[in-house]
Amino acid sequence: MSLMGISELNSKIFEREEATNYYIRNQGHKNRFIAEQILALFPKKVLERFAVAEFGIGTGTNLMLLSNYVRCVHGYDIAEEAVANFQKMSDCLGHDRAFARCINVCEDFCSPIRYDLVLYGWFAYYVSEIELQMVKKNLLNNLNAGGYVFVHDFLVRENRVKPDRHNQKLSVYKRNLRFWIDHFCEFDLIDFRLFQCERYFEYQKCDNLQTIDVELTDNDDLWIFNGLFRHRI
Ligand SMILES: C[S@@+](CC[C@H](N)C(=O)[O-])C[C@H]1O[C@@H](n2cnc3c(N)ncnc32)[C@H](O)[C@@H]1O
Repeated sequence: MSLMGISELNSKIFEREEATNYYIRNQGHKNRFIAEQILALFPKKVLERFAVAEFGIGTGTNLMLLSNYVRCVHGYDIAEEAVANFQKMSDCLGHDRAFARCINVCEDFCSPIRYDLVLYGWFAYYVSEIELQMVKKNLLNNLNAGGYVFVHDFLVRENRVKPDRHNQKLSVYKRNLRFWIDHFCEFDLIDFRLFQCERYFEYQKCDNLQTIDVELTDNDDLWIFNGLFRHRI
């Protein structure tokens, strides 16, 4: 499906019709999967000097866990409820260590500081390719030289666009690894893991995750991946 002829960008529909619903639907899921992956990937000594941002914080539990290990955490989300919830949870950390702002990451924005690591917190499947270019511009403007981006999203063999099952007006974009490697052409892919979406909550109880889940189904609709990319200096 092409975006040509679609007058309204996907993130605008999400902002107006879906962001609050999305937050309410998912607020019970206290996901820490992304944070746990980051803690496994980086030595603690390296993490302690990192300023970290997450685009699409949801319940904010990833950033709260990471706040124990890094210099500061900044959260961005289109849903006001997500931002208000994070501000409440992180109040005890103080403004220097935690900060959140309600923004659409597909629109131009300037962060108060530059980041060493930006987490793409499982929102890109709501974002069209034109919008993803804008997100990348925001990433590059707000990332330190040699900084990292960590992508957590669906992965498929062939790029696909289909209507969201909760809101038919909204498109859901599922992309393959080639797409992501080309998209981040100024970055090197330095870590890649593939998981089965349905086992998401089970993984949180595992001590050690496989690089590629050996029990992965053939149905790529059920795959999620983590990709750590480093900006080439
Ligand atoms: C699937 S949730 C993931 C939350 C969290 N990162 C996690 O892994 O549990 C995606 C989040 O991205 C936010 N989001 C979606 N599109 C966005 C956009 N264009 N700008 C900012 N946030 C967005 C949603 O409001 C939602 O909170």
